[in-house]
Amino acid sequence: MAAVFLLLLLAFVPPTAARYTPDWTSLDGRPLPSWYDEAKLGIFVHWGVFSVPGFDSEWFWWHWQGQQPPDPKCVSYMSRNYPPGFSYPEFAPHFHAQFFNPEEWADIFKASGAKYVVLTAKHHEGFTNWASPYSWNWNSVDTGPNRDLVGDLGDAVRNRSLHYGLYNSLYEWFNPLYLDDKKNGFKTQRFVMKKLLPELYNMVVRYRPEVIWSDGDWEAPDTYWNSTQFLTWLYNDSPVKDTVVTNDRWGAGCACKHGGFYNCEDKYTPGQLPKHKWEKCTSVDTLSWGYRRNMKLKELMELPVIIDDLVSTVALGGNYLLNVGPTADGTIPTVFEERLRGVGAWLETNGEAIFATKPWRVQMENTTIPVWYTSKGATVYAIITARPPTTTLKLLIPKTSLTTKVTLLGIPSPLPWVPVYPNGGLIVLLPDLPSTPGQAWTLKLDAVQ
Ligand SMILES: *[C@@H]1O[C@H](CO)[C@@H](O)[C@H](O)[C@H]1NC(C)=O
Ligand SMILES: *[C@@H]1O[C@H](CO)[C@@H](O)[C@H](O)[C@H]1NC(C)=O
Ligand SMILES: *[C@@H]1O[C@H](CO)[C@@H](O)[C@H](O)[C@H]1NC(C)=O
Repeated sequence: MAAVFLLLLLAFVPPTAARYTPDWTSLDGRPLPSWYDEAKLGIFVHWGVFSVPGFDSEWFWWHWQGQQPPDPKCVSYMSRNYPPGFSYPEFAPHFHAQFFNPEEWADIFKASGAKYVVLTAKHHEGFTNWASPYSWNWNSVDTGPNRDLVGDLGDAVRNRSLHYGLYNSLYEWFNPLYLDDKKNGFKTQRFVMKKLLPELYNMVVRYRPEVIWSDGDWEAPDTYWNSTQFLTWLYNDSPVKDTVVTNDRWGAGCACKHGGFYNCEDKYTPGQLPKHKWEKCTSVDTLSWGYRRNMKLKELMELPVIIDDLVSTVALGGNYLLNVGPTADGTIPTVFEERLRGVGAWLETNGEAIFATKPWRVQMENTTIPVWYTSKGATVYAIITARPPTTTLKLLIPKTSLTTKVTLLGIPSPLPWVPVYPNGGLIVLLPDLPSTPGQAWTLKLDAVQ
């Protein structure tokens, strides 16, 4: 009798929260925590042992000793500059990070206007930037900086009210357990059970990242990585279950299809509005994500190019994750710092048209010069990323009314405009456009449709 009563009682207790199950239908149905879409801009940081050679890219080890045939540039770089037999792990003690000041880094990231920061906790080389108990002597506390880089940067970043995320590579190029599983056609999971998963669970509990930026998934299916089981725990029971967002790199074939927001491929640039929340990751150094000591100015994204990329990404519903590669000394190259502060200076005036906006019913028009639209409630923003050739700007898409008001962000007084047709379009008389480091300006349109 009591048991029956209890059963009845349980049947009427409403579920407190949805429980996810380890399948993509369930996991893909999880709503993305709202902070992420509102944030729009993040800073990506690629830092590791690869920052020591600072040559080629963060893929240096693989290009030198992994791929067949190896990259002759990397091979000759090593033979010309290092003693015979020098091995990649010997770079680790030279990862000094002696100038690393997380407060300074976080100040720069904050000044960029970004709302989140994603650091490589572990790249494909397998070196962890924290004292992973599963990465003995191949982590930043046992060797190199002798410091918890993930923890120290996290504290400084969070202190500035920025969200903190961690990049984690699933595969490790040269891990013997991984190579063994690979040889077995991924029918065995020794690497996943002994290294990857224990480390990942530990990392989440320890640092509570609000983004898990997964990578290095493509050689094996998600069933090998146990991705759905991990995400089920992450979304149901982890300490970040309510705020964490993840990307889509959880196994071969998952990109652009499963997970949280979609990265699709690196530097993904859709032509039209995607149906699913997405993020474009890209790098100030167009040739690398990690630091390169021989980078040239002409190989870097210029500020107006970055702003144009940010604007078109946000207009198409994306977030923009902009990468910088710090040096092994622990500095952010000043040219990267200048770019980030430039983005922040532009956002100081124009951020209203970026943060917490939604895509508008039309995302772009190109009557004379390209115009990107974003919206917030009843307000529409028209962002131009080039100086118009004339003192007027014609927009054909917005439908005006008698109460339509047009202003240029940064200048308080309304601008004169005339309708093009009775039912739509306007020609705006522009003021002298103030000079801006970003070479982009925003018209704010109130009472248009
Ligand atoms: C940042 O650190 C300072 C100094 O320790 C502290 O007073 C402040 O409350 C912190 N801010 C946040 C948002 O954690
Ligand atoms: C991995 O997935 C299998 C089912 O495919 C499950 O039995 C096992 O408990 C999972 N292990 C972990 C650590 O998630
Ligand atoms: C906008 O139009 C101009 C002139 O027709 C064209 O050269 C340019 O490529 C267009 N830009 C975009 C982004 O479509």
